[in-house]
Amino acid sequence: MEQIDDRQIKEDDRHYVLHAWSKQKDVQPKIIKKADGIFFWDDSDKKYYDMCSQLVYLNVGHNHPKLMEEFRHIGEIPLASPGFATASKAELARKIIEVAPKNMAKVFFANGGADSNDHAVKIARMVTGRYKIFSRYRSYHGATFGAGNLSGENRRFTVEPGLPGFIKFETPYLYREKVKFENEEAAAAFYLDRLNSQILYEGPDSIAAIFMETIPGSNGVLIPPKGYMEGVRELCTKYGILMICDEVMSGFGRTGKMFAVDHFDLEPDIMTFAKGVTCGYSPLGGVIVSEEVAKYFDDHVLMTGLTYSGHTVSTQIGCATLDIYKDEDLIEHAAEMGKVLAARLEQLREFASVGDVRHIGLFAAVELVKNKQTKEPIISYGMDYGKDAVGLMKKFVGLLMEQGFYTYSHESSVMVAPPLIITEQQINEAMDLFEHALMKFEREDLFADQPLMAK
Ligand SMILES: Cc1ncc(COP(=O)(O)O)c(C=O)c1O
Repeated sequence: MEQIDDRQIKEDDRHYVLHAWSKQKDVQPKIIKKADGIFFWDDSDKKYYDMCSQLVYLNVGHNHPKLMEEFRHIGEIPLASPGFATASKAELARKIIEVAPKNMAKVFFANGGADSNDHAVKIARMVTGRYKIFSRYRSYHGATFGAGNLSGENRRFTVEPGLPGFIKFETPYLYREKVKFENEEAAAAFYLDRLNSQILYEGPDSIAAIFMETIPGSNGVLIPPKGYMEGVRELCTKYGILMICDEVMSGFGRTGKMFAVDHFDLEPDIMTFAKGVTCGYSPLGGVIVSEEVAKYFDDHVLMTGLTYSGHTVSTQIGCATLDIYKDEDLIEHAAEMGKVLAARLEQLREFASVGDVRHIGLFAAVELVKNKQTKEPIISYGMDYGKDAVGLMKKFVGLLMEQGFYTYSHESSVMVAPPLIITEQQINEAMDLFEHALMKFEREDLFADQPLMAK
């Protein structure tokens, strides 16, 4: 590569690169000059706590020595098109099946989260001979045309009017639910009853799959009420519908268990994964299928594929990444650190602008409101990419950055999802920064004209 200075990098970036989900005129990217563990440094040598693991994928942290060492061995296994068996593809598939729910049998490799979801939809349609796909509002499944159709939020709108047969149902979102429930089980029963009705209205025999982020991530870490996931499993079994869990963000230890489905008493038929399988050191995603689904393709052609399915470099990095989870007890560590983070997040409820905090393992969101009593959101629904985008939430995320706390927001929720290697001390240091930013935000932006605002 050419050696060019920072000014030239930014200049070329501005001239030649299109940045996702942005008005190009607003884009002013920093350069990551160096990174290590949970930290990175920008081009003005400012240090940041990476509190969202880039886009919630860097579970093992930046610059992991084992992965850097693995890169030195790239090229030792020959590149091979998907029809060949390779050592790294075979080993990684086996390693994934060893840690997946026990009904899971085989892996189909893709490039990332969205295309894995596309392949999962096709697999479900082939296996069931049905065409409708249920997925949820307040979900994100990726930006390809298929995954875009699955997504239940405004990042879907550019693929609309979209594909026939993609039906949306509600995600339980108890903080904003108008109906008040006695307990979580009652909430689960309420949402399951509505889902059951919707299945009946749509015709169970036409529904191939119910597609869900096990725990919706970018839409605010919405943890399902007790019994809900198990209830969806029962409905799927009852109507012969395949249950597909998108573990792209929640998988590989993020929630304190290997997969988020491990928190529930259920076995999905299909799971999709990406991010944490290589922690972004090389792009990789895939679809894990149950024994039953796998068997179907013994005698039927798997009518899907891609040039880089099981790419040698990515699967090699994947093998090394899975070894790190095991050798460093990272999943158990994430569960432990999750408790430390939870304690700090719960304290945030004292702030007048914090409506809700939701957390499981090292997967958390802080939902901000303009008014705690009315729950008026800090940004109105769907306005992330609209004129409100220059408003309060952008200010708050800017304040976090100023403090050296790097993360991103979606609607009114701020993501807190640090690398799983984070220590107790680092969590406390980072959350101190979060609190400082929040105090400044309330004082100077949110309640500047109402200094006596009660909590
Ligand atoms: C739950 C979920 N599914 C799918 C995707 C899409 O993955 P990718 O960006 O690798 O295509 C994402 C991305 O954030 C995600 O969070």
